[in-house]
Amino acid sequence: MRLRRKKNRDERYARCERLALADGQSIYDIFDKSLPLEIEIGSGKGGFITQSAAQNPGISFISVERVKDCILMGMEKAESAGLENILFICADAETLLDRLPPKCADVIYINFCDPWPKLSHAKRRLTHRRMITHYLPLLKDGGQIRFKTDNDALFDFSLAELQELSFELSEVTRDLHATDTPNIMTEYEKRFSDMGVKIKRLVAKPTDMTYKALGI
Ligand SMILES: C[S@@+](CC[C@H](N)C(=O)[O-])C[C@H]1O[C@@H](n2cnc3c(N)ncnc32)[C@H](O)[C@@H]1O
Repeated sequence: MRLRRKKNRDERYARCERLALADGQSIYDIFDKSLPLEIEIGSGKGGFITQSAAQNPGISFISVERVKDCILMGMEKAESAGLENILFICADAETLLDRLPPKCADVIYINFCDPWPKLSHAKRRLTHRRMITHYLPLLKDGGQIRFKTDNDALFDFSLAELQELSFELSEVTRDLHATDTPNIMTEYEKRFSDMGVKIKRLVAKPTDMTYKALGI
């Protein structure tokens, strides 16, 4: 997401710093290990994850976003709502295994990730097997990935990729808002659905074959 550099960004970031996971800090210094944990990768301005945290005080949340000006907006939302069950990591998904312990998450959300339409950029898609390898080890046994997008081509690619990797797929829909599935909208979701674009969604659970196929 491209954003103009925020005014007083560093001072504003410093004001919310208690919400940022520091380098070398363990999430279990802050979160109770016995509680469920959910991670959103590429959380943009943070509307989805901060609302999720506000509605679910018994769950711990982690927002991962590589653009500092974006993550700041989520941190400010969490700070002004006084949320205690959310942490922010400003980093690329490719580095997450250095920041978080293996098998820590019950759910990983990928919401409206960049579609990278050129074939030569396919490896950057968060649902490409190269990227999945960077975050799947974070999922607990029995955990799941929840994926939403407005983009038909990305949805088709992701379905095929996840099926080839032997994920168990469920709740597959090409019109999420026409279903009864409880849903918190992201900023992109609101924008695209206001334009009349149907929102696609699926849930993917890895199987033993998935880990074998990925060599992890
Ligand atoms: C299209 S925006 C969607 C934002 C938000 N999820 C929403 O639905 O409103 C995708 C976001 O993912 C972030 N992103 C893309 N690739 C990433 C990566 N490899 N690691 C971390 N964040 C990433 C971008 O910086 C951008 O903010």
